[in-house]
Amino acid sequence: MIILKDNENIFDNKNLCLVPTMGALHEGHIALINAAKKTEQEVIVSIFVNRLQFNDDLDFKNYPRDIEKDISILNRLNIEYAFFPDEEYMFPESGFDKLDAGNLGKKYEGNSRPGHFDGVITVVNRLFELIAPKTAVFGAKDFQQLFLINKMILEKKYNIKLIENKTVRNNSGLALSSRNHHLSKKGIHQASFIFKSLNAAKDEFIKTYNTIDAVKVGTDILIENNIDLDYFEILDHKTFSPPKSTTKNFIIIVAAYVEGIRLIDNIQFKVRATK
Ligand code: PAF
Repeated sequence: MIILKDNENIFDNKNLCLVPTMGALHEGHIALINAAKKTEQEVIVSIFVNRLQFNDDLDFKNYPRDIEKDISILNRLNIEYAFFPDEEYMFPESGFDKLDAGNLGKKYEGNSRPGHFDGVITVVNRLFELIAPKTAVFGAKDFQQLFLINKMILEKKYNIKLIENKTVRNNSGLALSSRNHHLSKKGIHQASFIFKSLNAAKDEFIKTYNTIDAVKVGTDILIENNIDLDYFEILDHKTFSPPKSTTKNFIIIVAAYVEGIRLIDNIQFKVRATK
């Protein structure tokens, strides 16, 4: 594995699959990297804790970092490149493109974390400029992020194929996240009710086609388990907006706090035409 701090022009004319990460690698990232390896392109994993996507400075400072462990995981996975740029290189004083995630970037996750998605698409765009990958892999857990990156790719006419990788969960259904490091054992158990709430809302929606009832079934489970809710929404999967009568592909998204830690998750499903 070659470890790089800048692009040194070695990525030119390469057939690369990029897995962007902020480090603190866990099974979820390993699944992304394994999906990248399946492309049979050369795999490059970037590790960069992106200050621009943290609206809270303390959250940025407390974000788990363990470079030694990350490198040993990447070595074991036998990938071609690890990219560890520093802040000056990613965001040079001479200037870089600061992108705006638009209206959709201000909703749901973006409503609670102002500027978050502007920061995400700015850094991902910068990585795309520096690395020019053919494909890039992102996890389905951060679906709004995936949606906005896809939109950015279309708008900027990048010839980059996005691979959406299924959310990796522990035995009780909790989506793996670097933030889970901050939870106690009890918190991990409590947090498993987030995925249960999504499943219950999905089942209710498939039975009744009633968004309000389905959201209530889901959020009741969170309330019963002392989980503080931020949002719980049923959306059209294609438009990431409230569903229409013609919607067939749905996504339910949730953000909630367990032991003060913000966790997000979603579930995607299809429903045959209602009538
Ligand atoms: O999903 C993440 O870990 C980050 O948002 C990403 C895509 C690496 C950009 O910093």
